[in-house]
Amino acid sequence: MLSVSRSLARGLSLARPELCAIRGMATSAGGPTQENAPASQQPKPVVDKSFLVYRWNPDSSEGPKYQEYKVDINACGPMMLDVLLKIKDEQDSTLSLRRSCREGICGSCAMNINGTNGLACLTKVDRDPGQVTRVAPLPHMYVVRDLVVDMSNFYAQYKSIKPYLHKAKPADGKEHRQSKEDRSKLDGLYECILCACCSTSCPSYWWNPDKYLGPAVLLQAYRWIIDSRDEATAERLADVNDQFKLYRCKTIMNCATVCPKGLNPGQAIAKIKQSVAKGEAI
Ligand code: SF4
Ligand code: F3S
Ligand code: FES
Repeated sequence: MLSVSRSLARGLSLARPELCAIRGMATSAGGPTQENAPASQQPKPVVDKSFLVYRWNPDSSEGPKYQEYKVDINACGPMMLDVLLKIKDEQDSTLSLRRSCREGICGSCAMNINGTNGLACLTKVDRDPGQVTRVAPLPHMYVVRDLVVDMSNFYAQYKSIKPYLHKAKPADGKEHRQSKEDRSKLDGLYECILCACCSTSCPSYWWNPDKYLGPAVLLQAYRWIIDSRDEATAERLADVNDQFKLYRCKTIMNCATVCPKGLNPGQAIAKIKQSVAKGEAI
């Protein structure tokens, strides 16, 4: 086994054209040279692209600014998060950003990329080196530092809708059961990862973030309102039935355009309004 591995390794190293070039050797008959190697094995050319990244340090007297970084996008992963982490790792360790899962699950890498809110880990880098890509924190949020925004108000609003099941324990002590049909009503709602891309793209939320609950929190509210197991539907509706909390939504629909999970908070809000209009709130 060992000798097979060694001979395989030797074969591989001899076939590597860069080693042959270093040693001044010709590759074995018919083997690939750097020139005639398949395109997939050719070293990629350097493609430097400029990125303007929002920077602000609360401990510095300097005001906010956009800082330019050049990154070889051929030596980097394809997503915006890959570029930002490459900048942080190789050029500027002081750059601050949130990220965790790098696969669109945790919602922490939400930011504004070229004017549109999205998740950095799911947003592909524009590969045109002639176009500068601009990266900023989520709009109309207080900045903690660089790309990190203060989510306190957003989470307080989420907490205010009591995002958990209101129901007495089943008599048999088992789980709360739900028909497949009722469970399917949660589709398009439960997938929300609370990234806040939608709320921070909504002009109504920009102007009244303290009073309007915003699309993310209202979608979450509807997720509990529509849950067949929940026994607080009327109270939940009554709680959001407010000219600011709910009716600041003016059907602008930016929320549905930017949601990285393909959800439609505007539609959920419309359904809450319908339920209130039908007198389902107490
Ligand atoms: Fe993010 Fe979409 Fe949920 Fe809004 S609805 S918080 S954009 S996942
Ligand atoms: Fe805003 Fe969406 Fe309503 S963008 S106004 S929450 S439809
Ligand atoms: Fe988790 Fe982007 S890092 S959603």
